[in-house]
This record gives sequence, C-alpha cells and structure tokens, in this order.
Amino acid sequence: MTASISASLLAWYDRHARDLPWRAAPASALPDDPEWPYRVWLSEVMLQQTTVAAVKPYFAKFTALWPSVAALAAASDDDVMAAWAGLGYYSRARNLVKCARAVAARGGFPDSEAELRGLPGLGDYTAAAVAAIAFGQRAVVVDANVERVVARLFAIAEPLPQARKAIRAAADTITPDARSGDFAQAMMDLGSHICITRSPRCLLCPLSEACEGRKSGEPERLPVKPPKKAVPERRGTAFWITRANAKGRGAEVWLVTRPGEGMLGGMRALPDDGWTARADGSGEAPFTGAWRSCGAVRHGFTHAHLTLEVRAIETDVQPEGAGAWWPVARIGEAGLATLFAKAASLVLAA
Ligand code: ADE
Repeated sequence: MTASISASLLAWYDRHARDLPWRAAPASALPDDPEWPYRVWLSEVMLQQTTVAAVKPYFAKFTALWPSVAALAAASDDDVMAAWAGLGYYSRARNLVKCARAVAARGGFPDSEAELRGLPGLGDYTAAAVAAIAFGQRAVVVDANVERVVARLFAIAEPLPQARKAIRAAADTITPDARSGDFAQAMMDLGSHICITRSPRCLLCPLSEACEGRKSGEPERLPVKPPKKAVPERRGTAFWITRANAKGRGAEVWLVTRPGEGMLGGMRALPDDGWTARADGSGEAPFTGAWRSCGAVRHGFTHAHLTLEVRAIETDVQPEGAGAWWPVARIGEAGLATLFAKAASLVLAA
C-alpha cells in the first residue's frame, strides 16, 4: 500500500512536474554540476514561507550575481541584504551569508541530513529537502504543503501543531528509498496544485483511492488548524530626510542600516521613531524643523500589522548617528525592505 502510494505519486510527477529553474527533470540522475547543491539550498531557503512565483526572479538574480557558493561567501553582507530586499523574512538572508561562508570554509556542502542541520539557517525542513533533492538521500521532507497532503491521506484529525509528530511518522511510511528528491517535490507539487487548502481537486489526484480524508467526505477539514491568533496593530513614523542638489548630483535621502539581528536587521531603511522596540513609536522626529506629513502606509508582518506614517523634510543638517546620503533618483537600487519601499513611493508620488 505505502509502496503503491509512492509509485502512483512518482508516476504522476513524471507527467506533471513543474519545470522550475532550480529543478532537475523528473527521473534524471543528479546533475553533474558542482554548484547543484548550492542551487538547491538557495532555492529551498528562498521558498520558505514564500511562493514559487515570488522566488523565481530572486533566484535568477542571486545565481546571476553569485553563481557559486564561494562567490556568495565572498559577497558583502550589505550587497546580499540589498539583493534580498522585497523577499521578506530577512533573517533568512543574514543566515544565507553565514551559511555560504561556513560551506565555503569546509570546501562544500555536507551530504547528510544531520550535518546539513548543523549549518546556519537550516532547520529540519531545509536540511531534509537539501539532503533529498541535492544528494538523493532518503529524507522525510515535510513543509506546510506536505503536511496538508499527509494529514488528509491518513485522515490525521489531531489539531496542529500537536499533529506534526503523527504527520511526520506517516510521511516516513510512504517515503521511498529511491528518487527521494523527486518524491519530496512531487508531494510539494501535489500540495500546491491538487491537494489545495480549499476545494481540493480530488478528481485529479493520483492518491485519491488511498486517501482516507477523501473517504471521510470532508478532506478540506484537514489538517485541523489551531484558532488564529489576533494580530496586533502597531503604529510608527518613518522620516524622509532629503538634502537638495548636493554637489550638483540631485536630491539625496538619508538612509540608515537597521541594527543587528532584530526586525529587518541589516537592511537599509529610512530612519524611524523606534516603533519596533516600542510597539507604538514615539512619533518623535530626529531633529526639529518644518516636517510635513506625507500620509501613511500599511504593511502586514506575520506577527503584527503596521501603520507607518511618513514625514518629510528638506534640510542642510546632517542627521546624527550612522547613515548615508543616497540619490533619490536611484532609490529603487537601495535595497529597501518592502515596508520602506512603500514609504518611499508614497513620498515620491506626492
Ligand atoms: N517549495 C519548497 N521547495 C520547493 C520545491 N523544491 N519545489 C516546489 N515548491 C517548493
């Protein structure tokens, strides 16, 4: 039974696998390319909590800028953070550089799931996915899509997150020894195209005959999710500080680099009133002057919804603290996180 599940799924994958830039063709041997593990790892880090459509242009950009793990290891933190801007969950980018340097220092990626898990930023999911896809190792790869497929296939009705243990154990029973990477990616494709959250397409599913969730008549009910937590509202203020025509080069805006490992840490940004630390920013400007209000932008983070007011001023004063003037005409290249890119667009549209 379990063998027939993997066989049915792999036969389906042979016909329906998505053609993605980081993928090998179904049923092919592992590519004879020393950077293959790098490409798999990079794609898997980018795909955490992020759609395939959003990842594609970033994957193309990163592999053009840094075609090898050694090239990425040699890049500056600032350049990598700027290239990641807009993809979100910036701790991934901070770990990406750390991991590339660790891998370059040891002369390549390790090929076992256990050793991969020891690298910066590689949790259970990514270590298993890289072991399976890059190295063909048998590994139980469970992301949110796979979780849904398995919960339905085995009608696991325990609510998440407690159900994770049972889901993993069930996924283990259907994971084949061979074609491990294809199997993992087939489960992901099934979860993202057929066994979708609402109105699953059971008539198109290669596993429908074996599916206990379908037999129950209510596959859509699974997996049982915990009640949604209310997302808090936050308020803050960002400051658009420009100086005009510095050395005849056109207006420039004052940008800072956000500190450390915290929220948007390491990213170039507009100065703000410290809303991340305080939940509600003070609204206090970095210096007194004729500030004008430009309105507000809204942004959704996983843990909060933010309303960020934007205030602007033209000045000759060099703001205190670390920062740099950046040409307004090239603001699109500054590598601002989406929140601050929205704020910049608001000012520039006014
Ligand atoms: N999501 C995470 N990894 C993926 C992959 N390799 N293919 C498709 N979707 C994915």
